[in-house]
Amino acid sequence: MKDNKIEFTVNGENKIYDGDPLRRLLDVLREDYEMPGAKEGCGEGECGACSILLDGKLVNSCVVAMGTIQGKEVMTIEGLKENERGKCIVEAFADAGAVQCGFCTPGMVMASEALLRQNPKPDEQAIRKGISGNLCRCTGYDQIVDAVKMASERGDGLW
Ligand code: FES
Ligand code: FES
Repeated sequence: MKDNKIEFTVNGENKIYDGDPLRRLLDVLREDYEMPGAKEGCGEGECGACSILLDGKLVNSCVVAMGTIQGKEVMTIEGLKENERGKCIVEAFADAGAVQCGFCTPGMVMASEALLRQNPKPDEQAIRKGISGNLCRCTGYDQIVDAVKMASERGDGLW
């Protein structure tokens, strides 16, 4: 850390943040870096719409203060969807009919990536657990479970 600057990466790109350490990572991504993929739903760590990976772990960016991310790696949906794993998950969501209004989708895709990294062949129970921190008001979840299964099968060897 130089002075009060916070250095970290977003999707592999170095960033230096020199602002209020109490600002939320979600706001910095959306407002400063023009990355609107993480959405604000509840703003209280309950809905998962703002999910990102922080050092590979699924977290709700609405409850992450900038002051806590020195040296960390942030991955957002903008970065994930550019790699083969992300493309595979996004396509599976489309093909399984798992996207309705789409508000939860970026967070669901991030949760799917986090799950598949840990468990490339999850069964239904593991998938439901993996997405349990992410709320969807539209689909009833079955299509999302199908999408994660589909990504796991199609993406054999990617995770
Ligand atoms: S907006 Fe972050 S968990 Fe709901
Ligand atoms: S598709 Fe609308 S909230 Fe999930």
